[in-house]
Amino acid sequence: MNREELIKGIKDLKSRHNAIIVAHNYQVDDVQEIADVVGDSFALSKHCASSDADVIVFCGVHFMAESAKILSPQKTVLLPELDAGCPMADMVTSEALIEKKKLYPEAAVVCYINSSADVKAECDICCTSSNAVNIVRSLQEKDVLFVPDQNLGNYVANQVPEKNIILWEGFCITHHRVKVEEVKKAKELHPDALVLIHPECQPEVVKMADFVGSTKQIIDFATDLNHNKFIIGTEMGIMHKLKKNNPNKTFYLLSQGLVCPNMKKTSLLSVYNALNEMKNKIEVAEEVRIKSITALDKMLQVG
Ligand code: 13P
Ligand code: SF4
Repeated sequence: MNREELIKGIKDLKSRHNAIIVAHNYQVDDVQEIADVVGDSFALSKHCASSDADVIVFCGVHFMAESAKILSPQKTVLLPELDAGCPMADMVTSEALIEKKKLYPEAAVVCYINSSADVKAECDICCTSSNAVNIVRSLQEKDVLFVPDQNLGNYVANQVPEKNIILWEGFCITHHRVKVEEVKKAKELHPDALVLIHPECQPEVVKMADFVGSTKQIIDFATDLNHNKFIIGTEMGIMHKLKKNNPNKTFYLLSQGLVCPNMKKTSLLSVYNALNEMKNKIEVAEEVRIKSITALDKMLQVG
């Protein structure tokens, strides 16, 4: 099938199955274009929870589709590429977290949504990069065990100095490799551009930003601001929406290393195949789901 046939086939299958396609901002352009909703982790979780579709095709990585299934157990959730995972999410296991919690019995446990259902089941509240600061601020406890992203945890610690944040040693391999020298070089090349950075980057890189936020917050900031040039410090897939929303503005990717191979696995063909064969269904054991939904629900309440 050629591209046009695939697009038509996906549309037909969507209406036959009462399905929606949601895509993360890091997906390849074609997949973003076929999606009903493109957004950050928080917007997509909220959308899946409130949608009345029977089937959700989640174009993203495993923990995202799993979160959709936790929030909507009655829906069929398909992940077009089953091996699209998140290396950072794999840097914490429920067993290791249970051991760590014993060292900090007084601490609230906050997990970044980039974690498995088993890990969420051991946490008090979940967060995404768009609400992590507010979530931590909303807690009663002074001590907060934050898993698994040390960089996002560090950013939150700087924004909420009244809390004692205990960091886990996880990181995003894509964002963690961005170097201070790359930011300096980009600023030299484009001195009138503003630097927009994702908080999964290392603290010394984040410090150099004019704005720090989730992928949606970066897109909204660049779109709403009366400024024309931006250096973008997050995964390259975001460039599609930035350019589409702002044809008269210029965007420079901060580093050529800003590619998440897992986010790039999903294609029109894999979306078509998943819908056509109703395959790659995400399942979460009911016992784990019941335990993990609390952390996600609490996050959605705080907002
Ligand atoms: P956001 O879209 O929530 O900013 O998340 C970034 C990310 O790395 C998802 O894996
Ligand atoms: Fe995971 Fe990083 Fe890829 Fe996001 S960009 S899915 S955090 S590896």
